[in-house]
Amino acid sequence: MELHRPVMPVEVLEHLAASRGGLFVDGTLGLGGHTELILRASPDNRVIGFDRYTEAITLAKERLADFGDRFKAVHADYRSVKETLESMETGPVAGILADLGISSYQLDNLERGFSFRTAKTGPAGTSGTEADSPLDMRMDRTEGLTAADLVNGLSERELADIIYQFGEERAARRIARRIVGERAKTAIKTTAQLADIVIRAIHQKGYWRIHPATRTFQALRIAVNRELDGLDKFVADAVDSLEPDGRLVVITFHSLEDRIIKKALRYQSGQCRCEPDQPGCTCGAVKRVEIITRKAIEPGEKEIADNPRARSAKLRACRKFSA
Ligand SMILES: C[S@@+](CC[C@H](N)C(=O)[O-])C[C@H]1O[C@@H](n2cnc3c(N)ncnc32)[C@H](O)[C@@H]1O
Repeated sequence: MELHRPVMPVEVLEHLAASRGGLFVDGTLGLGGHTELILRASPDNRVIGFDRYTEAITLAKERLADFGDRFKAVHADYRSVKETLESMETGPVAGILADLGISSYQLDNLERGFSFRTAKTGPAGTSGTEADSPLDMRMDRTEGLTAADLVNGLSERELADIIYQFGEERAARRIARRIVGERAKTAIKTTAQLADIVIRAIHQKGYWRIHPATRTFQALRIAVNRELDGLDKFVADAVDSLEPDGRLVVITFHSLEDRIIKKALRYQSGQCRCEPDQPGCTCGAVKRVEIITRKAIEPGEKEIADNPRARSAKLRACRKFSA
């Protein structure tokens, strides 16, 4: 198994100001790559790691066992950060990290059907699919509908909207029409079946830069796990949970998430979000943080060459004001 490499390690530690010692929250523990870096940044650091994926919790606990009680893992959604920390009676924390999306480990775990595991480029008209798996995609298997439930159960219009909105896929209508046509013949249960349907719907010629089904798979994963829901509230709750001068660092991997995080941070920094033609402000924006990344930070060329999964990462961070 390829170990997930933590994205922008230096930038994460710097923006969390992790060398100063304190209690940190890793909202997306994964295999504990960032958590380990935080724990190593100061002997006074402690980390509470959140994850929805039970396998990640087990593996991170094994990896970080040497840190003893400086590390604690909780099976929880980072969107419940405020309530969870309150119930643990931690008091305000020095920093919170959220490295959104899924890890290499999950992509490689074929059982969950997050990926169709293909060659990165391939001739159009062939699936390039090397392995097949059930179309599940749930990070937390204890809840919710699977990708197969959505693909076989939603209307053509609903599927097209999901693929267009969450995948930013221009051929969404064609793909949705093809899915509905194919599922009338036989239920779509596996990643290879879906990847082949998308390829046939798109009819892309020449060589692929990314596999034609990538956007459709991203869209379904976001829908299944409701990945964009509550991100805005997460930012507000995370800021509530920080101590004065505490830091929030968020890494996103696609423009939909980044846009939400950027707006939410601006709102926390006091920027009004009312319509420009509205007579007075009703949004209640209050200056609670200073945004410490003027523009989103992106990985350098060397990191992208070493870790291609970092290529679309964007890091944004803020510091909570003292008063
Ligand atoms: C990109 S990986 C994090 C990798 C980690 N930073 C590392 O260095 O190993 C994202 C992790 O967040 C988890 N995750 C995604 N959405 C979540 C949520 N809403 N609440 C908690 N964990 C979530 C995924 O299961 C995955 O393990």
